[in-house]
Amino acid sequence: MITLDDAIQSVKNLLISWENLFSLPESGDELKAKLAVLNNPQVIIAIIMGVLLIWNVRSKIRESVEESKAFRTLEAPDFPPIEPLENFDWKSTEPPKFRPFKPKYHLTMALETLVPSELIPMDKTFKERLEYRRSLLLEHHDTVIAVNNDTDLRVCAAVSELYTFLLGTYLPGRYPTMFKLHRVNYPSGKTVMLQNLVTEELWPVKLAKEAPTIRALETLIRTVDEDFLILLPEQDDEETAAAGELEEEVAANPREEGGETKYILEAFATGYPAGFDPRKKLGNCLARIHEPVPGYPERLEKSMDRFFDKLEVGKYVKRVNWGITTDAELFSAFGNKVHSSEGEILEAIEPEDLNIDKTFLRCERQTIHRLPSSQALVFGFHTYLYPLQDIKDEGLGEALAQAIDGLKEGSTPEIHLYKRGPVWEKAVKAFLTS
Ligand code: HEM
Repeated sequence: MITLDDAIQSVKNLLISWENLFSLPESGDELKAKLAVLNNPQVIIAIIMGVLLIWNVRSKIRESVEESKAFRTLEAPDFPPIEPLENFDWKSTEPPKFRPFKPKYHLTMALETLVPSELIPMDKTFKERLEYRRSLLLEHHDTVIAVNNDTDLRVCAAVSELYTFLLGTYLPGRYPTMFKLHRVNYPSGKTVMLQNLVTEELWPVKLAKEAPTIRALETLIRTVDEDFLILLPEQDDEETAAAGELEEEVAANPREEGGETKYILEAFATGYPAGFDPRKKLGNCLARIHEPVPGYPERLEKSMDRFFDKLEVGKYVKRVNWGITTDAELFSAFGNKVHSSEGEILEAIEPEDLNIDKTFLRCERQTIHRLPSSQALVFGFHTYLYPLQDIKDEGLGEALAQAIDGLKEGSTPEIHLYKRGPVWEKAVKAFLTS
């Protein structure tokens, strides 16, 4: 058996012999002596060991290169496979053009199947929007992200599951030109980090056990231009009471006798709320959340509760909504700039006063899916603002003007007021049809 010391000694001998062997002989006798060295078994062993050593090092290097190529994503066998966009160039990718308006507005779920790989779209606005989102965290931290109860282990598990799927699997798997995983050896142990190649930021793909859940939501806001609301099934009254909830809150989220399980908003990371304050929605069921939406109890509540209760892991769906905004930011949590209600005093904008640079068709591409382990529902949305001039240039001015009239002619005419139609209708239609 050859020990390590033997091997080191052999390699040393090999190097000495090598040097002696290949330096130019000064005489015939020296040449003879050099050739004689090759008969020395120690030298032969040293040569063999040297070759083996080199071969071993080379195969280790090859293995680690192969491993780093294969290590593109964390395995997530319970999630659907994600197709990579190998050569995706976010800088030259235009935002998709959604034009979902119809001649008449009918309040329906209007859900379509979503290919799981298409969960989060990216485009050329990515970097500037991440900067905006970072500023929102500074200015409106508690409105942009919140957890209903961060001692509720179900909520922590749900946020952590979404976080690790997105950072460890979805983003590096779908957009390898934008996100890259690294294995890192810290003194505390090995970990996997996600590098955002656009911002150069590095994030651990798994939340440390002691890390507060809110940190994960902060990172989501900083990493993707996508908003998330996380819902969990309402717990039994007994469980809720045991958790020390107020009785009033239980009554606020009633479960129908024999009806579907209600879903409660337990956490959110929403940079672009369209006319609502997310904090006021936290801890509420879908019916309470949608209270300001006219027609919701009659036309949507039952089918939505049934749909959410039955939605299976692996089934992804999407829908797109639309509205017109005249003076709203992407972040519009305060100040009634997007929605209005019965009894509010509204002032119509005159056509000559319309600031067309601040007037947009605002669409949300909304997605819903269920997380396999925590069973939480994730409602995601990506907000797009389209200048009205674009709509007009596409020859769709008349169609949008008709859809604005159609808000009052469909299943729920009150939606016209809810979308603030009385404020912008006249001026926007005048612009679109001129
Ligand atoms: C199939 C699923 C859903 C449908 C069909 C739906 C439908 C609607 C509709 C029609 C509106 C009125 C504004 C608009 O035109 O979009 C609305 C508003 C809203 N939805 Fe949903 N929704 C769904 C899921 C959710 C989920 C899962 C949440 C998560 C908590 C949510 C939160 C909201 C909020 C916060 C508003 C604004 C309410 C306000 O004005 O205060 N929606 N939804």
